[in-house]
Amino acid sequence: MTVRPFRKNFSNLNKKELKKYLFDFYRLYKNRPIKNNKGGMFFGNMFGLYYFLRKIKPKFVIESGVFKGQTSWLIEKVLPNSKILSIDPDLSNREYISKKIEYSNIDFKNQNFKNIPKNSLVFFDDHQNQIERLMQCKWYGINNVIFDDNYPVGKGDLYTLKHAYRHKGFNHHLTFKSMIKSLLIFISMILKKKILKNYYFSNDILKSRLRDQKPNKFDFYYVNKNIDKYFEFPPIFKLKSKVKKLEKTESPILSKNYKKYFDLPNTELDSHSSVTFVKIKKTK
Ligand SMILES: C[S@@+](CC[C@H](N)C(=O)[O-])C[C@H]1O[C@@H](n2cnc3c(N)ncnc32)[C@H](O)[C@@H]1O
Repeated sequence: MTVRPFRKNFSNLNKKELKKYLFDFYRLYKNRPIKNNKGGMFFGNMFGLYYFLRKIKPKFVIESGVFKGQTSWLIEKVLPNSKILSIDPDLSNREYISKKIEYSNIDFKNQNFKNIPKNSLVFFDDHQNQIERLMQCKWYGINNVIFDDNYPVGKGDLYTLKHAYRHKGFNHHLTFKSMIKSLLIFISMILKKKILKNYYFSNDILKSRLRDQKPNKFDFYYVNKNIDKYFEFPPIFKLKSKVKKLEKTESPILSKNYKKYFDLPNTELDSHSSVTFVKIKKTK
């Protein structure tokens, strides 16, 4: 059974074009500022982001989930004339910092998006509930959305479009250590609330630690109703059979014989997290 909820492919996507873009991207990637981006995106996923940005050419890009700044760098390189807002509650991990990018630690849903260009795009790599993120985009009238980490059921640490499609919800498995940390955060917030007059309790902090979502049929019903296009980026090379068991993907871009043309380790070349582009229907 396919995991792809929609068959409306991204226009003009073809293998020949993907291959051309891939070698352009490889030349750019060799100059990336962060050589070890563990915890962030690698080559295969970065290529998906690169491809969608080049095709859509938004005038304004919002990035949610900055970490060391590798994807901020990519957005800036692909779209040197676009405005970029990069959001992360913890901006202290940045290694690549640009004067051209505006940074913010305020959550996407609390930003001021008045008077933004029509073809604005948001890229989410923040490990938050993807259905809630889509709803927020609809609210702001931002119709171009890219998600990293659209994992299938049984993989990943967040509620994704694919989980919703399967009506499976998401049960966030927590280690004992992580439960204790969440409890301490909660207690410290309660104490601040008691002591400080102007303290506002942040649901975001709690939600980022506890990401459960009960199984339900309605999330996907509304995703389906509000989406115009859905496209999952293919892996560059054939996935390992262990991963393939969980997920049926688009066919790979290249055969394994091409690996020799890339001076990159397999962790980079085989990285795949179904970077997904979604076009939200315009409100009439
Ligand atoms: C996987 S990393 C991002 C990697 C980055 N896009 C890259 O590959 O260069 C996820 C980031 O999301 C951030 N994050 C967590 N909650 C967030 C939120 N509500 N909004 C935005 N970012 C968030 C984390 O602090 C972390 O830096």
